[in-house]
Amino acid sequence: MSTMKKKKNRDELIGLQILQGLLFRHHQRRRRLHHLLPLLSALSGCLLFLLAILLFLSPPTTTTPRHHHLTLNTSLNKGIKDHMYVEKENVFRVTMNGGSLGRDLWSSNLSNFYYGCSNASHYFLTAEMRSVPNRYLIIATSGGLNQQRTGIVDAVVAAYILNATLVVPKLDQKSFWKDSSNFSEIFDIDLFITYLSKDVKIIKELPQNVGKVSTTRAPRKCNEKCYETRILPIYAKKRAVQLTKFDYRLSNRLDLDLQKLRCRVNYHALTFADPIFQMGRKLVQRMRMKSKHYIALHLRFEPDMLAFSGCDYGGGEKEKKELGAIRKRWKTLHTKNPEKERRRGKCPLSPQEVGLMLRALGFGNDVHIYVASGEVYGGEETLAHLKALFPNFHTKETIASKEELAEFSSYSSRMAALDFIVCDESDVFVTNNNGNMAKILAGKRRYFGHKPTIRPNSKKLYRLFLERDNMTWEAFASQVRNVQIGFMGEPNEVKPGKGGFHEHPLACICETSESRATRGGTSQDMDNKNEADQGTEEYSGEGNDDGYSEDELDLSEAEYPEYDNGIPERVSANRKDSGSLLKPDQPELEEIVSD
Ligand SMILES: *[C@@H]1O[C@H](CO)[C@@H](O)[C@H](O)[C@H]1NC(C)=O
Ligand SMILES: *[C@@H]1O[C@H](CO)[C@@H](O)[C@H](O)[C@H]1NC(C)=O
Ligand SMILES: *[C@@H]1O[C@H](CO)[C@@H](O)[C@H](O)[C@H]1NC(C)=O
Ligand SMILES: *[C@@H]1O[C@H](CO)[C@@H](O)[C@H](O)[C@H]1NC(C)=O
Ligand SMILES: *[C@@H]1O[C@H](CO)[C@@H](O)[C@H](O)[C@H]1NC(C)=O
Ligand SMILES: *[C@@H]1O[C@H](CO)[C@@H](O)[C@H](O)[C@H]1NC(C)=O
Repeated sequence: MSTMKKKKNRDELIGLQILQGLLFRHHQRRRRLHHLLPLLSALSGCLLFLLAILLFLSPPTTTTPRHHHLTLNTSLNKGIKDHMYVEKENVFRVTMNGGSLGRDLWSSNLSNFYYGCSNASHYFLTAEMRSVPNRYLIIATSGGLNQQRTGIVDAVVAAYILNATLVVPKLDQKSFWKDSSNFSEIFDIDLFITYLSKDVKIIKELPQNVGKVSTTRAPRKCNEKCYETRILPIYAKKRAVQLTKFDYRLSNRLDLDLQKLRCRVNYHALTFADPIFQMGRKLVQRMRMKSKHYIALHLRFEPDMLAFSGCDYGGGEKEKKELGAIRKRWKTLHTKNPEKERRRGKCPLSPQEVGLMLRALGFGNDVHIYVASGEVYGGEETLAHLKALFPNFHTKETIASKEELAEFSSYSSRMAALDFIVCDESDVFVTNNNGNMAKILAGKRRYFGHKPTIRPNSKKLYRLFLERDNMTWEAFASQVRNVQIGFMGEPNEVKPGKGGFHEHPLACICETSESRATRGGTSQDMDNKNEADQGTEEYSGEGNDDGYSEDELDLSEAEYPEYDNGIPERVSANRKDSGSLLKPDQPELEEIVSD
C-alpha cells in the first residue's frame, strides 16, 4: 500500500512541477512582450494555459500498469479508489517491487549472536582410545545424493558407537537416480578420512583377511543402546558387519557429543570432490557477477512427485488423468483427498505460488533467482508464471555451457551436488518442498550463521492462495508475512528436542556470551559447559513430535522409487526410539537373526 501511495505522490509531484514550470515561463514571456503585443501575449498565455491543463489531465507516464487519472487527495479521488477495490480485476494486483519491510531481506539481524559449534567435549574418547582392532563396519547407503549424505553422516556415528573401523561408505548406484559414481567421484575422500581421524578410523577398502562379512540391516532410528544390543553381538562371530540400505538408521536423539560428531561430518568432513567443487564455485561466481545478492530456489515439481502427493494442482481433467496414470505404478497407494492433503500442508507449492510468496515477503522483480529443479510438470508453461514475477531467472544450464556441464550432466548426483553448492552459497534459500536437500541445507545454513532460509508454511499459506482473488494484494502480502514468521531460518525457531536433527542441528548451535547476557539466561544454550544437565534430557525424549503422523506411516511403507529428498520418507514414525525397537514383532529383528 505504502509503495503505491508513494508512487502516486511522485506522479502528483511531477505533474505539479510541469504545471509550475509552464506557468512560470508563461509569466516571464508575458512580461517581455507586454509593451509590444498585449493581445498576442494574452492569446499565447491562454494557449499555454490550455496546454498545461491538457498535460495535467493526461495520465502520468508510469511503468506500473495502473489506469487511474488524477491522484489528488480529494473526496472524489477517494471515491474512484474505493471503486477500484470493488472492481474484481483490480483487486489482486501483484506489485513489481517488493515494497519495504523495514528490515534487511538478505540477512537475519540475530545471526551475529550464534555460531556453529561442533568440537568434541573432553568426555569424548578418540578413535585411538576406542577402536577395537579387527572390527569393521561396512555401510551401503540408499537413495539420492542427499539421502545418502544423511546415511554417510550416520555411518560415522554408528562406527563410533560400535568402536569399529569404518570402510568408506558405498554409494547407492542402483537407486531410482541411477548414478554410477563412487564415493571419491562425489566427495573428497581424503579430507573425509583425515578430518575425522581423531573420531573414527576410516579406511578406503576392507582388508583381505577379515573372512566372511555378515550382512544385515539396522532398525530405523536405532539409538546407542539399540546398536549395542542389535549389532554389537554380531562381532562376537564376525570381524566385519555390513549394514545395507542405510537410511534413517540412527535416532534423531543422541548424546550431545554424538550429535556434535554428526555436525563435524556433515558440515566439515563431507565436502565435494574437486571437479564438483570447482564447477560449483564457478556457478556461484557467475550468479554473484549478475547481482550482489541472489535467491536460490529448490523447486520440486516433477510429475512423479506430484502424482505421489495426491494433490490437485489446478490442471483440471488433464492433470487428473496424467497424474492418475502415474499413481497406478504403486499398487499400495490408496487414493487421497486432495483438499485434505492441501489443508495438512502436504502439497508442494507451485512455481507461481512460490513466486507470489517471495514477492509478498518483499523480493522485487529485479531480484536474481537461481532455480534448481528436475523436470517440471507442465514445463515452460508452468514456469512462465514464476518467470513473469522474477524475470532474472537462472539455472545451471543458463549460466554454464553444455561443454562445461558435460562431465556432470549424465550423473544425477553430480548435478545435484552442483545445485547443492549454489543453493548453499545463496543469500536466501527457498524451497517448495520438505525433502532431504531442503532439510540438510536448512540445517547447514543455520550452522554457518543463520543464512536466511525460507520454508513455506504450506498449512497456512494454502488458504491465502485459495482466497487471493478476494483479497487486495496488500492484504495478501501482509498475511503471507505473518504466516511465514517462524519459517524464515531465524535462530530459535524450533524448540529444543523437536524436529529432525539434520534440519535443526541445535546441539551444534551455540549462543555468544554477549547474547546470553542480554537475554538474561533464557537461552537454549547448547554449550559444552551445560552438557551435564542437557545431554540426556534433551535428546532422549520420545519421538512423537517429528511432525510425522500416522498417515505417513502408510506412505513410508509404499513402494516408491528411491527418490532423493522426496516427499516420501520411509521413516518409522511415532515409534519411540528405544523400547518398541526391542519388541520382537518387527521384521528387522528377523533380518538380523537370519542374515
Ligand atoms: C488524504 O486524505 C485523507 C483523508 O481523506 C487523510 O487521512 C490523508 O492524510 C490525506 N493524505 C495526504 C497525502 O494528504
Ligand atoms: C531484529 O529485528 C526485529 C524486527 O525485525 C527487532 O524487533 C529486533 O529488536 C531486532 N533485534 C536486534 C538484536 O537488532
Ligand atoms: C574447535 O577446535 C578447533 C581446532 O581444535 C579450534 O580452532 C576452534 O577454536 C574450536 N572451536 C570452538 C568453538 O571451541
Ligand atoms: C567402546 O570403547 C569404550 C572405551 O574402551 C568402552 O567404554 C565402550 O563400552 C565400548 N563400546 C562398545 C560398543 O564396544
Ligand atoms: C571410483 O571410480 C574411479 C573412476 O571410475 C576409479 O578410478 C576409482 O578407483 C574408483 N574408486 C573406488 C574406491 O572404487
Ligand atoms: C470470494 O468471494 C465470493 C463472494 O463473497 C465467494 O462466493 C467466493 O467463494 C470467494 N472465493 C474464495 C476463494 O474464497
